[in-house]
Amino acid sequence: MNIQWYPGHMTKTRRMIVDQIKNVDAVCEILDARIPISSRNPDVDDMTVGKPRLVVLNRVDQADPEMTKKWAAYFRGKGYAVLESDAKSGVGTAKFAATVRELLADKLKSYAEKGQVGRVVRVMILGIPNVGKSTFINKVAGRKTAKTEDRPGVTRSKQWVPIDRNLELLDTPGILWPKFDDQSVGMNLAYTGAVKDDILDVETLGCHLMSYLGENYPDAITTSYKLAELPLREQEENDIAYGYRLLQAAGRKRGFLISGGEVDTERMAKILLDEYRGGKLGRFTLETPEQMEK
Ligand code: G4P
Repeated sequence: MNIQWYPGHMTKTRRMIVDQIKNVDAVCEILDARIPISSRNPDVDDMTVGKPRLVVLNRVDQADPEMTKKWAAYFRGKGYAVLESDAKSGVGTAKFAATVRELLADKLKSYAEKGQVGRVVRVMILGIPNVGKSTFINKVAGRKTAKTEDRPGVTRSKQWVPIDRNLELLDTPGILWPKFDDQSVGMNLAYTGAVKDDILDVETLGCHLMSYLGENYPDAITTSYKLAELPLREQEENDIAYGYRLLQAAGRKRGFLISGGEVDTERMAKILLDEYRGGKLGRFTLETPEQMEK
């Protein structure tokens, strides 16, 4: 896999986070609601021990609404405050300040008791590249702030973004590295466009995505590709083999044929990925809270 993050970059980011953690009251990790496991960096838990945590499930406009509810309940159950957001259109972002104050209610109460009314609350924003950090911060701040540099290894001075009189965001160190623990993480990040899809060949990606969607969202596939019915998965048939058959069925329907009447499955795979990313097939979530417990 062509991974963009190297140990040196991770060490640097980690050092910046550990360095800055003492300056903030809470940590907000922005996740992609479609892939809350793959877009999460579990190392954050160790680096932020003891800090109240807020999880933003971003891109809810692209995720399965039922699954977003489940994910929100899951993270609440872990003691995190949760905000569902579509940072692009601004849905949910207005609740950020109130959510932070609720999360820090005890602390704010004790400040008030000590007469420190109006003390500024600071929140560190973290997230992998492309998850929507800048868009989210801009919406929450109500204006355009500088784009966080997301090339690994590029150091930027820390940036405090005032939200209101009593709330500031720290959007650096900001950028987390994705954790490519297993192949499915790399694939999920490629489907959603968080990493370039040259990490795997397009046809392999297409087979896996098609197999997942065929199994979990069959109606979306039959409707989008005008299939009377979906070929059923055979016993012992793996993702690649099943996904390949679905690509063939969809490609045939679209008329993507090559010499000898065979289906151009590579072309179909590219189309599938483009249409998935463009939201043309529907709203899907590719990971479940049950997988998190495994
Ligand atoms: P980053 O700072 O974490 O790297 O991410 P950034 O905010 O730059 O967002 C990356 C892309 O994701 C942007 O699209 C942005 O508009 C889009 N985005 C962010 N949040 C959401 C969301 O909740 N829903 C949807 N649908 N998209 C979101 P872009 O193509 O790079 O730019 P543009 O087309 O918006 O100009």
